[in-house]
Amino acid sequence: MTKPKAVLIGPMGAGKSTVGRLLAESLAVSLRDTDEDVEAVAGKSVQDLFVDEGEAHFRRLEKAAVAAAVAEHDGVVSLGGGAVLDPDTQRLLRGHEVVFLRVGLADAVKRVGLGSGRPLLLGNVRARVKQLLEERAAIYESVATIVVDTDGRTPEDVADEIRAAV
Ligand code: S3P
Repeated sequence: MTKPKAVLIGPMGAGKSTVGRLLAESLAVSLRDTDEDVEAVAGKSVQDLFVDEGEAHFRRLEKAAVAAAVAEHDGVVSLGGGAVLDPDTQRLLRGHEVVFLRVGLADAVKRVGLGSGRPLLLGNVRARVKQLLEERAAIYESVATIVVDTDGRTPEDVADEIRAAV
């Protein structure tokens, strides 16, 4: 049975994609990104999916993409920021090395920029990021086996810490 070396979780702006790429490189494995898997299945961007089909439809595709990635991929898996809100996904991740990339409001806002391509951030970016960080912090912590602080750190530094720990 294959098993990912690490599953990266955390909010938008935590650096999951960038850290995931660096971590995968240094572990000499490949990175699987569930947002990209959803886009491939749907044939459109996450943003267009939200607009055309709605968030609930996106979440169904995301749940299936996460289940497939965790079952099939033996490298690094990066999940969309909201994937672990689903209780079935939380259960599915038990027994896996789950790394929560923790980030504070200032760094998260800086990294997501103006929220381009992120449907949940339309409107007031700072207020939305703050709300999402507060709503989800406890869930990320409860699912994670490792918590890595990312504030003020480079993705290289964060990836090195995870590599040493997994
Ligand atoms: C979401 C995060 C996004 C993407 C979608 C919803 C969320 O992924 O899955 O826009 O609910 O936090 P990233 O965390 O990779 O930006």
